[in-house]
Amino acid sequence: MLKEITVSGVRPTGRQHLGNYFGAVVNFVKMQELFDGYFFIADYHSLTTHPKSADLKANVKQIAIEYLACGLDPNKCTIYVQSDLPQIPELYLIFNMFAYLGELEREATFKEKVREQPDNVNAGLLTYPVLMAVDIIIHKAHKVPVGKDQQQHLEMTRDFVARFNNLYETQYFPEPQAFNFSGNLVSIPSLDGEGKMSKSKGEQTCIYLSDEPEVLRKKIMRAITDTGPTAPNSAKPQAVKNLFDLLSLVSTSDTVKTFDDNYNNCTIRYGDLKKQLAEDMVVYLAPIREKIKELSGNDKLLAEILGDGGSKARTSAAQTIKDVREIIGIKSF
Ligand code: ADP
Ligand code: TRP
Repeated sequence: MLKEITVSGVRPTGRQHLGNYFGAVVNFVKMQELFDGYFFIADYHSLTTHPKSADLKANVKQIAIEYLACGLDPNKCTIYVQSDLPQIPELYLIFNMFAYLGELEREATFKEKVREQPDNVNAGLLTYPVLMAVDIIIHKAHKVPVGKDQQQHLEMTRDFVARFNNLYETQYFPEPQAFNFSGNLVSIPSLDGEGKMSKSKGEQTCIYLSDEPEVLRKKIMRAITDTGPTAPNSAKPQAVKNLFDLLSLVSTSDTVKTFDDNYNNCTIRYGDLKKQLAEDMVVYLAPIREKIKELSGNDKLLAEILGDGGSKARTSAAQTIKDVREIIGIKSF
């Protein structure tokens, strides 16, 4: 039986952090064993913020290194750069006909970007969800491992697909689902106590996979808390809950329980909680950090892997474009 297809990508906008890891990449690594996996570097998507060419190049390399360091294996899945597929812009053009202005303007990330970068509200930002849908459907994917912040983009992808399938009376594209092995999409909190961890929020609010132990300890020790609970079994304020959430990702359940009990009987010392979190985080990330160092500078290996991946991904994408042209009626004679 043919395996189900999975596709996902990360934008080359900086080093990867815990949010990228637990929301996305840790799932990629498991999925490569069970699915026909396509994992890419979304360089076109990062152009919406006008990066410098040298930064873009360095960041593409960084994401590739980190994919490998986290355990993606080019013998088990296809690893490539989005812009190596000329079929993406063609399908993007076609799918722009299936996306409506109103829904694009209402999309949460678009509204957020309009607030964040009022001087650069370009059309690429508006049609970002179309490009993302195309990344997914170019390989006719079923499952898309992403963090919770991408849920709305997946809903839009399904809408575009349903419109295409309806208009052309076909079942050609599957309607893809967002996916996380735990059953729920996750959102890893930022260290500043507000919102999700994100590359665009700044160095001090993210725990990067490549952070050195000393840097990591400092960031965690500086994380926001409060003065501590004053009544037994009180609800945790958001910033404290965030630290517990991080603890439960990297520490044993006994450790989490001890701190939870201490919180509930008001004996907790946040300094101890942070120290424990920092040490467990250092140990958890050590193998990935070491692997990142080992792979850095091995440009020949990266070029080989991305070259092979690009050519495999192009074969799959070319078949889709051929079929779509035929379905639409723009098949050349
Ligand atoms: P960022 O928002 O940091 O720039 P990307 O947009 O490149 O990261 O996201 C790549 C993947 O990582 C997506 O699947 C996204 O959902 C996931 N992701 C990013 N931040 C988080 C987070 N804080 N929690 C969970 N998943 C996240
Ligand atoms: N939009 C995603 C993000 O910001 C990155 C991305 C682009 C993506 N294309 C994709 C994720 C296709 C999954 C599938 O996080």
